[in-house]
Amino acid sequence: MPSGTGTRRLYVEEVVQYRPVCVFPLQTALVSLLCSVQCLLARTLMMDLRLVAASLILAAVLPALTALRDSSCPRICTTHGYGDPVCGSDGIIYPNICELRKKTCGKGVKLSPDPNLCKRSSGSKCEHRCGSEKDLVCGTDGRTYLNRCMLEVEICRLGIALSHLGPCNNISAHRENCPVDCKQAPQDGPICGSDGNVYKSTCQMKLLTCGQGVVRTDKKYCQTTRHCRESCWRNARPTCGSDGKIYANVCRMKSKNCGKHVFEVPMAYCASQERTSHSFGCPLGCGNEIEKPICGSDGYVYRHECEMKLLNCGSNRRVTKVDFEKCKSKLSKCLKMKCPNDVDPVCGTDARTYTNQCQLNLATCLKGVQFAHVGNCTALKEQVPCPTNCDNENEEPVCGSDGNVYKSMCHLRKETCGQLVTEVPLHHCRTTALCNEKCPEDKNFVCGSDNKIYRSECEMKRDNCGKHIFVVPMKRCLSGFLFRGCQKICPTYYDPVCGSDNMTYSNTCFLEIENCRSRSLVTMRHMGTCAEPINEIPKNYLY
Ligand SMILES: *[C@@H]1O[C@H](CO)[C@@H](O)[C@H](O)[C@H]1NC(C)=O
Ligand SMILES: *[C@@H]1O[C@H](CO)[C@@H](O)[C@H](O)[C@H]1NC(C)=O
Ligand SMILES: *[C@@H]1O[C@H](CO)[C@@H](O)[C@H](O)[C@H]1NC(C)=O
Repeated sequence: MPSGTGTRRLYVEEVVQYRPVCVFPLQTALVSLLCSVQCLLARTLMMDLRLVAASLILAAVLPALTALRDSSCPRICTTHGYGDPVCGSDGIIYPNICELRKKTCGKGVKLSPDPNLCKRSSGSKCEHRCGSEKDLVCGTDGRTYLNRCMLEVEICRLGIALSHLGPCNNISAHRENCPVDCKQAPQDGPICGSDGNVYKSTCQMKLLTCGQGVVRTDKKYCQTTRHCRESCWRNARPTCGSDGKIYANVCRMKSKNCGKHVFEVPMAYCASQERTSHSFGCPLGCGNEIEKPICGSDGYVYRHECEMKLLNCGSNRRVTKVDFEKCKSKLSKCLKMKCPNDVDPVCGTDARTYTNQCQLNLATCLKGVQFAHVGNCTALKEQVPCPTNCDNENEEPVCGSDGNVYKSMCHLRKETCGQLVTEVPLHHCRTTALCNEKCPEDKNFVCGSDNKIYRSECEMKRDNCGKHIFVVPMKRCLSGFLFRGCQKICPTYYDPVCGSDNMTYSNTCFLEIENCRSRSLVTMRHMGTCAEPINEIPKNYLY
């Protein structure tokens, strides 16, 4: 997609992620009209909240409908919204971009280009429009907040940060009780852990991550459980899954396979699994075809006739080859996209690997190919037997295309047997995201959940590649530590206090150093900066 404003890009990403049904059939004007009517209908009937987002996407993606984007504000935003809290240009914190648009409809409020606008340290009043939905998160102050928006308010007020998704562990991770066997345990999965991995049950999560303090989080935070609770449209667009089954649409495919890595593949793959399917007349692949672009009657540009047949296999609409003139404008529109060459492969629903997301977006523009999964496409047919024992493997974290981290390639193949999971670059998984990171030099000491002090959060995560490790309050690292003299390591959060020397200290820790140095001459006058006394204690937290 062309890089637009920040807002616009957000929506485009959403298309890629869960592709609301409304987006797909928009290939011809007629269908698109029908679809927007359906969207409006759904909106009034409050059938599926996601459709509102869909209509926004519609507006953002289709230039012809740009006018619609400006005049329509979302009426409903799903409480299962995927967005992060945002800072509005009015200095107010909103739960997500949709809520910002809804609550400020027509007032010209946008995403603030400067995230510091919503920080007390830069003068913000820390006002917010947070809701009360439950989506527990843990702050670096060791407190659990009702949802990410509430935490954001404390980030504004006190300068803390997000430690991890899900509630804080009351018990120190080290002293966690770990099961040794899960045979008798309730099968309550799939569970989305705060480490971004999906587990079969709570017991399995505790067993495999013993001592790391992994907690259960909302399903929306893990790749293979994100769509579990999706209420799908009746809309039929037969979809072939990588499990060889045909589904009514992509949404059904994902919600039915909660916790499993199932993605869309060309219809020919499913058709060839059925004995009576010869009527489909679908090519199984176009490996050796010579590239000779043609224009389809659906307005898409295909590399050759074989690809046109492959991509429209099983569709009720018959797509035929038409005069290339009819695709000229499409072609020139798509070719305006300039893609970089960096290699971060993604697999398209045509079972072809694209060098990066941008190249896939180009294919979406040209012929409607969509995102299937990150990483190289895998062979859909010939499957090597899965290993049954990985005990003697060298353990080195592997990030899978299903979003889970495995102890080794052998573990990946054993645990995802038959699911066509492939190894992808480490930055695609949560606990491996920073493994190869070049961390900034500046020191910003944090205390890790392993009770060790690190120079920065980045270094903490980099040095613990594949492990769930998070920031805990500094005092946990300092307890049991005796300081010589008045030196100590202070956290850098901003929660100013005014000293009796009329100086403002970033937080009580720095004041304590001064108190020590001055042999108790400097004490605390009041909370807040010296110019602006305040009397507040942390709020919005649950426990
Ligand atoms: C922590 O303690 C609070 C109350 O003391 C309790 O409600 C909560 O469930 C505990 N959280 C965890 C993750 O154990
Ligand atoms: C993806 O495929 C390319 C080209 O075949 C190969 O060089 C690369 O190593 C593959 N990536 C992974 C993670 O297997
Ligand atoms: C600090 O400010 C207060 C009020 O402005 C003043 O009364 C006091 O003398 C000052 N103290 C010092 C040490 O400067």
